[in-house]
Amino acid sequence: MTTEPYERLEAQVRALLDGESDFIANAGNFAALIHAELPEVNWVGFYRATPSGELVLGPFSGRPACSRIPHGRGVCGAAAVKRETLVVDDVDAFADHIVCDSASRSEIVVPILRDGELFGVFDVDSPIKARFTADDRAGLERLVATFEEIR
Ligand code: SME
Repeated sequence: MTTEPYERLEAQVRALLDGESDFIANAGNFAALIHAELPEVNWVGFYRATPSGELVLGPFSGRPACSRIPHGRGVCGAAAVKRETLVVDDVDAFADHIVCDSASRSEIVVPILRDGELFGVFDVDSPIKARFTADDRAGLERLVATFEEIR
């Protein structure tokens, strides 16, 4: 089940990306839209997978972040290796969490697969513990799927 605000966000994503196929432009706008419209989030952005399995920072909205995340490290690396969405209610209780913005208290990471290969991850941080519910997980997975469908 996906509810507001995600239905509205999906329509906004479709309108915002309409007619553009450049990844940097679309990913930057996608991150900025979600940062602006989703309540209580402080960092929204992409990391792309490199051939060595490292993740490298992509377009984002928020404070400056770590440029590279070693293979399998942090919440992003764990989601990338598992190839499934990871929701962390309390980043301080996740032993391998990588601090980029010290305001972050909870986090969700959605892996992005292209043709069965890991393309990267989409990461959203919140200054509120346990910010991301099952509806947020379904909603953000749907938005990432929409991004991938349109690109
Ligand atoms: N906290 C992430 C690193 C990326 S920043 O949150 C932007 C992690 O542990 O993978």
